[in-house]
Amino acid sequence: MRVKKAVFPVAGLGTRFLPATKSTPKEMLPLIDKPLVQYVVEEAVASGIEQILFVTGRGKRAIEDHFDHAFELETLLEDKGKTAELHEVRQIAEMAKIFFVRQKQALGLGHAILCAKEFVGAEPFAVLLGDDIIDAPVPCLGQLLDVYESYRAPVLALEKVPMVNISSYGCVRANQLAKRVYEVLDLVEKPAIIDAPSDLAIIGRYILTPGIFPILEDQAPGKGGEIQLTDALVRLSKQESIFGCQFEGLRHDCGDKLGFLKATVDMALKRDEFNGAFQDYLRMRLCR
Ligand code: G1P
Repeated sequence: MRVKKAVFPVAGLGTRFLPATKSTPKEMLPLIDKPLVQYVVEEAVASGIEQILFVTGRGKRAIEDHFDHAFELETLLEDKGKTAELHEVRQIAEMAKIFFVRQKQALGLGHAILCAKEFVGAEPFAVLLGDDIIDAPVPCLGQLLDVYESYRAPVLALEKVPMVNISSYGCVRANQLAKRVYEVLDLVEKPAIIDAPSDLAIIGRYILTPGIFPILEDQAPGKGGEIQLTDALVRLSKQESIFGCQFEGLRHDCGDKLGFLKATVDMALKRDEFNGAFQDYLRMRLCR
């Protein structure tokens, strides 16, 4: 069955990015001129996703507005003959079929995914976490879907990270099957360095099967007192094989201030519209 549905958990409070996220959803922070969440929706759509469910919370209305038509703005742009801008804002509302559900309590990523149960039904589905922006020749989710096509089983995005950082991630013990493809043998959420089974970290892209829902329904709280998706995946791995895809591409952790800055610089260096002016500025600043 083709993967057409994606779940975006966006209820998080963005405490790593205060005070900017006090009243603005972290997903709406812009990399140059586009909110983070739009990059991730574009990745999903480019990978063949047709329906997106945002699992939202209080204070996230701006995300709904961003993916809706903006009547006044569109009329104004039309009247002024700004057709390129008009096309750009209109197509955001037409990228995919968008749905929303509220996660009424902040009980963790596993709980957020459980809120998508009715939307997902009996199909395989994707999960995309908005903090991870991945600049890749083939969209990262598309790379996971290629692995899914071969095994018809859950697939996690994996990246080798420096061991000093492993306790910020879910971590896997895995058996390499091919270049960039692994079978996941065990998983642990945010281990201490000495307990980490490898340097392979789970990055915020998943293909899951509906078998995850009955597990999440009775999943006990884990790390940080939250219902962890990683813990549910440990149990799922006893029922179905789980695979990993060490994706090709550059990942930016945009939930973190330094990661966000790096992503901004990277994206700006790639933009033709600045015509080298940004490179010149950086060179000048660094030589001072
Ligand atoms: C979540 C997952 C973790 C994963 C990470 C990827 O953690 O629980 O397993 O490695 O996303 O970004 P969070 O960063 O939301 O605390």
